[in-house]
Amino acid sequence: MKANLKILCIGLGKLGLVFSQVLAERNGKTFGYDVNKKILSSIKKNEKSIEPNLNKLIKRNKRTFSIVNTIKEGIKLSDGAFLVLPTPSKKNHEFDNSYILNSLNKIGPHLKNKKNYLINITSTVNPGSCEIFIKMLEKKFNLKHGKNFILTYNPHLIALGSIYNDILKSDLVLIGSNLKKGFRILKNIYKSFYPKQLSKLKMLNLKEAEISKIAINSYITMKISYTNLLSQISDKTKNIDVSKILNAIGDDKRIGRKYLSLGAMYSGPCFPRDNLNFIQYLKKEKVNFSLLKSTDEINNIQTTRYIKIFNQERKKIKKKPIIGLCGISYKENTFVNTKSPAMEIYKKLFKKYKIIFHDVNYHENFEKYNFIKDQKKFFNSVDVIFICYKNEKFKKLSKYSTNKNKIIIDLWNFTRSNNRKIFIKNIGVN
Ligand SMILES: NC(=O)c1ccc[n+]([C@@H]2O[C@H](COP(=O)([O-])OP(=O)(O)OC[C@H]3O[C@@H](n4cnc5c(N)ncnc54)[C@H](O)[C@@H]3O)[C@@H](O)[C@H]2O)c1
Repeated sequence: MKANLKILCIGLGKLGLVFSQVLAERNGKTFGYDVNKKILSSIKKNEKSIEPNLNKLIKRNKRTFSIVNTIKEGIKLSDGAFLVLPTPSKKNHEFDNSYILNSLNKIGPHLKNKKNYLINITSTVNPGSCEIFIKMLEKKFNLKHGKNFILTYNPHLIALGSIYNDILKSDLVLIGSNLKKGFRILKNIYKSFYPKQLSKLKMLNLKEAEISKIAINSYITMKISYTNLLSQISDKTKNIDVSKILNAIGDDKRIGRKYLSLGAMYSGPCFPRDNLNFIQYLKKEKVNFSLLKSTDEINNIQTTRYIKIFNQERKKIKKKPIIGLCGISYKENTFVNTKSPAMEIYKKLFKKYKIIFHDVNYHENFEKYNFIKDQKKFFNSVDVIFICYKNEKFKKLSKYSTNKNKIIIDLWNFTRSNNRKIFIKNIGVN
């Protein structure tokens, strides 16, 4: 039987490290490379990670996963590379491909004597990028696509805090290739991930796969904004519980329940920027993008909406309230707070109010803010609490005893209280 391909993972950041471990666990021998020496040393020491499963996986994969010190060494030892590199958004919302191009420039010189070396781009890229990468490698290093190397696009639909499960339980896996050989190679790798579910591999050409990745996220953001649009009705109309409306319409299978419950705006490192990137792409292609623009606009007005609600509710407190922001990150099990509800509310209120943060997790970066780790102490120190992401542990906030009026503004509609001193305002319910 032919041995599984040996894979080099380039970029061992939030996604790359977990992905490399799934490869090592399922597919076999995997090498990891990152330019950041701090990251390499922390992997070697298996320093505690917040991402569930990661430390256990690294420990279990001791024999199948090893770190290499140079790209040259990694390519020599492997049959293909997965590139999981940053593609930060530029001012015009296009993704910056420079990390990938830099890396390809380091890979190129070592491919001359390789046959069909796999270069699998896992990072999210602008539609059209992979064809540019192929041309660059061919021209600059005198290589032939389909002979020396095969470039494929294979982004993953994951969220931080559940990466391992999201990879293995995803509904679909996008595989973009302009060559049949590319599909064959990736199918071979993924049969170890999804032995009986190979139909979830969606074989597309490179541009189709590039468009699909951002289209999926853009569609989900549209659904979230639609939910928030409905939620806004309750700000104006009495006797409306939008969660009941959502519960009813979600039973229509054409609509479905996912992303159709009361919650805050979409946030984090993927949803907002993927939608904006898709707008930019449609603009370039001269396709009307007003639907996606509205999605973004509705998202952007949510914070202002929360502040308006706060201004109404705060009247229940006689003095200038101290505000508590509960949940700094954009979701549970991650420290990432890119565009998180807490940070967006903070930006609007910090000049006028004293603000204290709390989170179920702890990260040294949280110390930049006024942060109280102990939940009860946090509760006692503030007057108005915003619950900014959903976590069962936050439910306890409505159970503490208090003789001072407290207001909890729950953006996720999951906190209840019988305490007459604690007023709960669930967004979307009036
Ligand atoms: N994090 C997510 O939730 C998520 C979800 C889906 C897709 N993605 C996409 O995956 C890609 C990676 O995201 P991430 O969150 O893991 O980023 P990250 O910043 O956490 O990790 C990127 C890693 O690449 C390393 N790196 C940079 N240049 C390098 C080079 N030349 N050689 C080797 N290593 C290098 C960095 O040191 C870093 O460790 C992005 O395109 C992102 O859009 C991320």
